[in-house]
Amino acid sequence: MRGRVADVDEFLYSCGLEVLHPGGLEKTDEMARMCGVGRGKRVLDVGCGKGVTACYLAQKYGCVVVGVDASERMVEYARELASRRGLGDRVSFKVADAHSLPFGDESFDIVIAECTTVMLDKERAFREFLRVLKPGGCLGDLEMIWRREPPRELVERAREVWGGFETMTLEKWVELLEGVGLVDIRAVDFSDEIRSMWKAFIRELGIWGVVRMACKLLLRPDVLRAMREYADIFSRYGDYIGYAYFVGRKPQKGCRA
Ligand SMILES: C[S@@+](CC[C@H](N)C(=O)[O-])C[C@H]1O[C@@H](n2cnc3c(N)ncnc32)[C@H](O)[C@@H]1O
Repeated sequence: MRGRVADVDEFLYSCGLEVLHPGGLEKTDEMARMCGVGRGKRVLDVGCGKGVTACYLAQKYGCVVVGVDASERMVEYARELASRRGLGDRVSFKVADAHSLPFGDESFDIVIAECTTVMLDKERAFREFLRVLKPGGCLGDLEMIWRREPPRELVERAREVWGGFETMTLEKWVELLEGVGLVDIRAVDFSDEIRSMWKAFIRELGIWGVVRMACKLLLRPDVLRAMREYADIFSRYGDYIGYAYFVGRKPQKGCRA
């Protein structure tokens, strides 16, 4: 099932979508500023996909960014992008599993993840993100959320269609972040700013881009089936689906949460 989600991700990228998280780079930017991304900071982007966020942050803020992704193909794309943009000295990528990062303790000032943690063992992943964060460093995570407690059938359907995807209400995300030891947690719910999946595609690709996507879908019945199922979830349960980002800080040594 995970392979199927990866196929859809890859298909969407091939149609020209830059990033695969709701709100695009505008929300990345808001979250990055809240995390204190800036010149001289070392940032880790977990589940970096094609590396667009990593390159964007390095270019805009002058920070050093390391991106990791479980997919070799994504890491290849990401390296090509960084090289095309002349960012090879400040942006690098590695194939790695988010649950077991190949970095020493306290190696980053900021860790960000966008639409990735929902697919992970969340508590384990957050503990790992905290391990590689320096004391006083910030974690920013942008995810799809449940706007209210979902019915069991929705939870099961989402897990089935999105291959292991499990999200939570905003309150539960915050509870989990507190539970792993983050402090000063701020959550921004931007659900009302995002309309439908198709409107988001039109905004990013333009009408002709979406028409091209529809034509390409005819040649990919597997992806078409998956996207129909995604669309079905959005149309039947749209009221439950929301989007938010969370920013929290790792306490300084000797300070209790
Ligand atoms: C929905 S995409 C989001 C990509 C990117 N963050 C963005 O917003 O465009 C999720 C990404 O997480 C990666 N991923 C999934 N499981 C992972 C894991 N265990 N460790 C690292 N990356 C993972 C996938 O390969 C994919 O590139």
